[in-house]
Amino acid sequence: ENKSRVAVIGSGNWGSVAAKLIASNTLKLPSFHDEVRMWVFEETLPSGKKLSAVINQTNENVKYLPGIKLGKNVVADPDLEHAVTDSNMLVFVTPHQFMEGICKRIQGKIRKDAQAISLVKGMEVKRDGPSMISTIISQKLGISCCVLMGANIANEIAQENFSEATVGYRENKEIAEKWVHLFNTPFFSVSSVQDVEGVELCGTLKNVVAIAAGFVDGLEMGNNTKAAIMRIGLREMKAFSKLLFSSVKDNTFFESCGVADLITTCLGGRNRKCAEAFAKHGGKRSFDELEAEMLQGQKLQGVLTAKEVHEVLCHRGWLESFPLFATVHEICIRRLPPAAIVKYSEHTHQHS
Ligand code: NAD
Ligand code: 13P
Repeated sequence: ENKSRVAVIGSGNWGSVAAKLIASNTLKLPSFHDEVRMWVFEETLPSGKKLSAVINQTNENVKYLPGIKLGKNVVADPDLEHAVTDSNMLVFVTPHQFMEGICKRIQGKIRKDAQAISLVKGMEVKRDGPSMISTIISQKLGISCCVLMGANIANEIAQENFSEATVGYRENKEIAEKWVHLFNTPFFSVSSVQDVEGVELCGTLKNVVAIAAGFVDGLEMGNNTKAAIMRIGLREMKAFSKLLFSSVKDNTFFESCGVADLITTCLGGRNRKCAEAFAKHGGKRSFDELEAEMLQGQKLQGVLTAKEVHEVLCHRGWLESFPLFATVHEICIRRLPPAAIVKYSEHTHQHS
């Protein structure tokens, strides 16, 4: 039979909501099997029970998305290889730092006709330069990979409040439309653009700007300052993306994955929240400590991404062109105080 089978690799805050969204659609769409397999990085809860077992008993991810039913056709599976083995549509959604290891574990273990999409916001930096997560998936697994990014704070989508998202694809519009079909709902409006790098870099880089916005909040500098940081950040996002990939399109920055995600993350995201606390403590408590205390197992992406971006800037001699990105990293590693976030204005009055 020709029905597609979907596996979601990851079950954090967004992973769980993505599984819920997809599962509501596979029930309705005849071209998909109802069941959605969701790989769970297994852990033991304070009750002594395994998280995957509790998800299957209660239909709720009690740790990463409490209070929300996922849909009975979501099946939690702690065995990564088993979770992917029968599926031809693989949805990757874990914190970016775990993705390379996950790809290695399922290398050679997936269906030959599998397609992938990455909801992961981040990149890896190696000696020979940066690699986007969708590229790591493509290269390690030998399959094509789209991306889905957007202004998508997971808890709000769990409440089914209206939002939008952008699918980025490389060549095959038909495959992109299949992903759009799988994700689109009346409250989750998805469109596709042929600019996989642009979409993925938007989702990745806005996490660095969100850290800067959090510093501004912690220092209580007000809305104008925060808007200025967002504008400067957006400009650096665009310039950095275009330097890395000349194919990146200007219009991508006006899609949900661009300016809309930047805004929502700077207003209500986890990166913003932890950076605010970091600045309030005058940089005396580390991000690792604050993450563990404030997010209860959820992971920040912006601090690591700032480090990765900084490495690229150093290697390529671009530091001076990206004062906001560079300063965020220096503040995160406590080489500069949080107030340094507004101390580079001589670079920032250009408009292009
Ligand atoms: P999360 O931060 O809620 O959860 C952390 C997840 O990592 C948990 O599922 C945990 O079990 C897992 N984990 C911990 N250690 C691990 C390990 N060693 N190996 C593998 N997994 C491990 O995750 P999330 O919110 O689903 O985020 C996943 C991606 O989606 C990130 O790139 C994030 O930027 C992006 N995203 C998140 C949101 C959101 O609102 N939460 C929205 C859009 C995009
Ligand atoms: P945070 O990880 O900062 O919560 O951002 C979530 C997000 O990517 C919204 O689209």
